[in-house]
Amino acid sequence: MDREVEQALPIREVDATPYAASLIEGHRDFGYSLDTALADVIDNSISAGSTSVQLIANTTAEEPSIIIADDGSGMSETELVEAMRLGSKNPSDKRASEDLGRFGLGLKSASFSQCRSLTVLSVKDSKTSCARWDLDRVSKRNDWSLELLDDHSSVPGLEFLSADGTVVVWEKLDRLVGGYGDDRAKRVGHLNEALGLAERHLRLVFHRFLEGKNQRYAFH
Ligand SMILES: Nc1ncnc2c1ncn2[C@@H]1O[C@H](COP(=O)(O)OP(=O)(O)OP(=O)(O)O)[C@@H](O)[C@H]1O
Ligand SMILES: [Mg+2]
Repeated sequence: MDREVEQALPIREVDATPYAASLIEGHRDFGYSLDTALADVIDNSISAGSTSVQLIANTTAEEPSIIIADDGSGMSETELVEAMRLGSKNPSDKRASEDLGRFGLGLKSASFSQCRSLTVLSVKDSKTSCARWDLDRVSKRNDWSLELLDDHSSVPGLEFLSADGTVVVWEKLDRLVGGYGDDRAKRVGHLNEALGLAERHLRLVFHRFLEGKNQRYAFH
């Protein structure tokens, strides 16, 4: 259409901000499996220059959790808040060659595909920051307010941070418990089997990183 004609036409606008509750739930179904979800989180660790990434799964607890801990650059609180934002970067922005990220979605959509509670603890310059998306809270409030936890002493995984680094904690593993929420033995068996398969996949995917550049990846 001719630009001048287009400008002459009256345009009405209306705010169409997405509803937090439905958009965030929709992010659970981007087609991730446990393997690819873990791989996306580990991609971030590699982009952050980690030399060690640990995967720790507490499968026997009443509330099972999965922890991915790295010794990368870590994030300040401002950076962490940005990292937790859905769509935290512009895909057309220039990236460093080792940066595997693109859309600013991976951490959130990969995590939500497996769990309803994502907590990220990060240490940078001796300062610890902690933020959480709990999908039950978002559903209730239907807004984008992110929880910042000043007291993170009860967050599982804190013990894996000493110097700079980041710990990603998945809790409320509703999809991974495979419908065995109330049957502890079956739940543990199901989780262990899924994690065993995922570990094999991760060893293949990160083969290059496992062998190269003196980087050590320990899957526990
Ligand atoms: N382990 C980590 N250590 C340091 N910074 C991290 C870590 N994980 C995420 N980040 C920061 O959070 C940002 C958002 O991560 P996220 O995975 O959501 O998106 P992305 O990696 O930028 O793009 P993509 O959607 O392709 O994954 C990253 O760009 C990075 O700056
Ligand atoms: Mg990413």
